Amino acid sequence: MRRPLLLNGPAGAGKSEVARLVAARTGARFVELNEGGGEGPGAHPTQSDRSQTAASVRLEALLDDGEPVVVSLGADSLLSRGRRLRALDSAVVVALRAPVGELLQRRRGLLPGVELDPGVLESELELRAGAYAEAHATVDTGAGTVEEAADQVAEIWRRNAVAVAAAGRSYAVEIGNGVAPRRIQQLLGAASKIVLVSDENVFGLHGGSMERALGGCGTGVCRIVLPPGEEHKSLASLERILVQALGAGADRSSVVVGFGGGVVTDVAGFAAATWMRGVRWVAVPTTLLAMVDASVGGKTAVDLLTAKNAVGAFWQPDAVVCDVAYLRTEPPRGYRSALAEVVKTALIGDPDLLELVETSAEAAAQGDLAVAEEMVRRSIRVKARVVSQDEREGGLRACLNLGHTLGHALESQGGYTQLSHGEAVSLGLVLALRLGERLGVTPAAITSRVTRLLARLGLPTETTPAALLDAAKLIGHDKKRSGSGLRFVLVENVGAVCTRRMELSELEAQVRVLAAG
Ligand SMILES: NC(=O)c1ccc[n+]([C@@H]2O[C@H](COP(=O)([O-])OP(=O)(O)OC[C@H]3O[C@@H](n4cnc5c(N)ncnc54)[C@H](O)[C@@H]3O)[C@@H](O)[C@H]2O)c1
Ligand SMILES: [Zn+2]
Repeated sequence: MRRPLLLNGPAGAGKSEVARLVAARTGARFVELNEGGGEGPGAHPTQSDRSQTAASVRLEALLDDGEPVVVSLGADSLLSRGRRLRALDSAVVVALRAPVGELLQRRRGLLPGVELDPGVLESELELRAGAYAEAHATVDTGAGTVEEAADQVAEIWRRNAVAVAAAGRSYAVEIGNGVAPRRIQQLLGAASKIVLVSDENVFGLHGGSMERALGGCGTGVCRIVLPPGEEHKSLASLERILVQALGAGADRSSVVVGFGGGVVTDVAGFAAATWMRGVRWVAVPTTLLAMVDASVGGKTAVDLLTAKNAVGAFWQPDAVVCDVAYLRTEPPRGYRSALAEVVKTALIGDPDLLELVETSAEAAAQGDLAVAEEMVRRSIRVKARVVSQDEREGGLRACLNLGHTLGHALESQGGYTQLSHGEAVSLGLVLALRLGERLGVTPAAITSRVTRLLARLGLPTETTPAALLDAAKLIGHDKKRSGSGLRFVLVENVGAVCTRRMELSELEAQVRVLAAG
């Protein structure tokens, strides 16, 4: 499904020209919102406040409407971060860039006789660099022809990726079926060395096609295949990756590729964060959990003894490629467990996703790849929206913890062997909904609707009172606890959650009531 395409960037970067070409090639309607005839600030101040407001209103209407139009934006159209995030969520945004000399030359051509100061232009670009970087992709119009730039832009539009906005560290998450090897080859063509991290299961099944694709990059590949399992998300694995990277002559421009489940993407990302104080990395998640959760958001880590994710860093990937074809071989229990995170995500921010899972629950549970692709795309979109607003977990990101406070307690009560993480989250979700009902926040109809859905997906929805009472005692160990309380995430409606600070003693008392039925 196509979304509108917005071309962003400074005056003189070629937005109108490229947009017209892309529109002509794809048969889409072309819309000019760049009222000054291709000009922006620093060139000439012709764009009045009134015309800027009119352009903003038109942009809002285009985003609401969703028709796949090609829009040439004004240089300032997306300077407000709120509007930019809205555009990134509802459209595909491509930033055009050209060297300063080129921009000056083009602006002089458009404004004969007007004196343009390169210093002013440079500072204008510097000020706006972070805003322009928040895009699905950036295309250089300085080097090749307009036709070549239009080809690239059309291809980016076709990919319909999800953007994660993090200023200069922004990136796109691409989702498709059978797309990974070719796409990785395109993405890594210019790397000096590729450090490929995988695990034995994934590499045994899918390593051949990935290595053939990487081989086609013409750069050296240093391959580290870890034994599978959470116990290998360790400092020992990190050291092994770094030592092998050193031995292989990896340098600052090397790129780490994490090719596997959440264990591999977490440790590979952390290796990238620490190698030479940080190099680029690309995530190729191969489990549903890694696609919808672990590979998006830039949290990387290893475990330390029994402390999960105790040592880590926020380090955004350069790109994420989610190829649902890998899900065909994922062990069914892990796949099904991750569906609990999909339901969680729908409750946080996407009523349509909940409906999709409801109408296709059996197909979703059985691993239908078309359904999986849509679930992955929509889940990532919600997570990207949250992460873009709160990269470092200042507040909003806490809502992603829905179902996890009691879920973690149950997971830990079962010694991390009885319940998978997702199964525990399924139970935690039902409990959070029931608790929300008790507190007068959650409508009862949502609890029964979600409970029914989780059961249809083959996930547990009931635990024994004894297990719950035991788990209640473990709530105090929650990592997200602060002082004697924590922020508990409650569901107000499908797509609307809120947090409420609760004392541990109060929460434990509530859980005891829930255990009593
Ligand atoms: N960084 C984050 O934001 C974040 C978010 C959620 C979870 N995580 C982390 O993710 C980890 C769990 O991830 P996971 O559930 O993917 O577990 P995992 O990486 O251990 O993979 C589960 C098992 O499936 C195998 N496997 C993976 N892909 C396969 C495929 N396509 N075909 C066949 N076998 C395959 C693996 O070898 C492993 O045995 C945890 O360590 C958790 O902390 C991180
Ligand atoms: Zn989780």
